[in-house]
Amino acid sequence: MKKTALTLLCLAIGIASASADAIIKQSMKKYHKPDDAIAKKVGKGEASDAELAELLKSYEEMKGAKPSKGDAGSWEEKTAAVIGALKKVQAKEAAGPAEFKKAIDCKACHSVHKGK
Ligand code: HEC
Repeated sequence: MKKTALTLLCLAIGIASASADAIIKQSMKKYHKPDDAIAKKVGKGEASDAELAELLKSYEEMKGAKPSKGDAGSWEEKTAAVIGALKKVQAKEAAGPAEFKKAIDCKACHSVHKGK
């Protein structure tokens, strides 16, 4: 009986981390990678209010997820920077788009947090 509970617990933890990864991967594929990805439009100041809201939701989910590499503090810092910049874009602050572009530096984050 004890063993079953332990197995279930391990399973639950396994599933939890797998789905956290999936959140990051899905957001990357949907919001970062395509040529017309919302993240690219934001940098150019072309995203609509609805797109900005959708993107913000996705980054907030990502912030709560666990990347396959790197420490939690760094992840928290990087995702918070992206969220902060995005909020400035939403508030139509002039510095928003440039700050956002800097915050979503693909390579800077991948080199620290992207696993194989
Ligand atoms: C805040 C950090 C961060 C930023 C910024 C970021 N990425 Fe990622 N990206 C990740 C992490 C973490 C993964 C690996 C996901 C995992 O396996 O946990 C990833 C994975 C990916 C993947 C692979 C998805 C898959 O199917 O495995 C693509 C494509 C990608 N990123 C594109 C981009 C592009 C393009 C940019 C820049 C516009 C970018 N990312 C910016 C963190 C980031």
